[in-house]
Amino acid sequence: MIKTLEWTDAGVRFIDQTKLPTEEIYVICKNYEEVANAIRTMIVRGAPAIGVAAAMGVALGALQSQARTLPEFEREFDAICDVLAGTRPTAVNLFWAIRRMREKFERLRTQPLEKIKAELVAEAQRMHVEDIAANEAMGRHGAVLLPSSGGVLTHCNAGALATAGYGTALGVIRSAVASGKQISVFADETRPFLQGSRLTAWELMKDGIPTTLIADNMAGAMMRLGKIDAVIVGADRIAANGDVANKIGTYSVAVLAKEHGIPFYVAAPISTVDLNTPDGSKIPIEQRASTEVTHLAGKQIAPDDVRVENPAFDVTPSKYVTAIITERGVARAPYRDSLAELVAMVTV
Ligand code: MRU
Repeated sequence: MIKTLEWTDAGVRFIDQTKLPTEEIYVICKNYEEVANAIRTMIVRGAPAIGVAAAMGVALGALQSQARTLPEFEREFDAICDVLAGTRPTAVNLFWAIRRMREKFERLRTQPLEKIKAELVAEAQRMHVEDIAANEAMGRHGAVLLPSSGGVLTHCNAGALATAGYGTALGVIRSAVASGKQISVFADETRPFLQGSRLTAWELMKDGIPTTLIADNMAGAMMRLGKIDAVIVGADRIAANGDVANKIGTYSVAVLAKEHGIPFYVAAPISTVDLNTPDGSKIPIEQRASTEVTHLAGKQIAPDDVRVENPAFDVTPSKYVTAIITERGVARAPYRDSLAELVAMVTV
């Protein structure tokens, strides 16, 4: 399995996703500021991976704290959490992971500092293991929904690289293929950051899963030609009513799928479900640098000073979503009820 991120004695190790697919290199972040920078610059990206990275960043910062008293440690701990929380705004897994680390700290505050630090590191490592297990469970729940043979379209990268391992949407595809289904994947290239062509195509080909790369504007034509039997994507945040924020372009794909009578599935862990956000209109959408649109691989492809919009995510209203696949089971409309039920489910 691709090692997206890993806790090591030297720091948190990431595969540098900005260098893929032409270079497979790893970077080690030696302190929490470097982890924050890795998230901000997309060395690591994808909602669940960002969450685990942030937890490891908090753990690293805590471990390296020179504080001698609890109040001193707490001040540093708060500052570390704030820096990591300020890296990217849309993926709720980031805030979920930081909250979980804060809650862990709250439960430990009567313990000696060395014990607190060790337990925070263990908690971050546990989140890494749990994320992979959640993806494998999602794979089991979702594989049955995919056709026994045919084309499956995906957008962005919701694979091993977007998680601690195995992937959400690509995890479902991996599981379906492992169960014997003859699936061929169509990967949208995903302008402007090209997660589809650089990352999804790379990791699926590594696994030997048949993959065809298409430019984003080809998805409708592929559907019309009957080449797509299902769509599956990941999510950065799912509101209480089932509206889904995911990589920009997802909404267009969902509308096209509905027009063509093709099921549109979303695979995401429970940590992506945000019951505090009532609907998609309240999800903060990250705006990224205009150079991501005006430049391609460092080369200018638009006139100087052209006005640019670059929202990194869009919101797909729940009416376009056939089902949401989580590690606890599959939610269907009405999502307000089905998602609340899955979130409330007691797990062992
Ligand atoms: O900007 P990115 O690359 O972090 O965006 C990633 C996505 O939109 C993914 O589709 C989403 O996080 C799901 S990942 C399992």
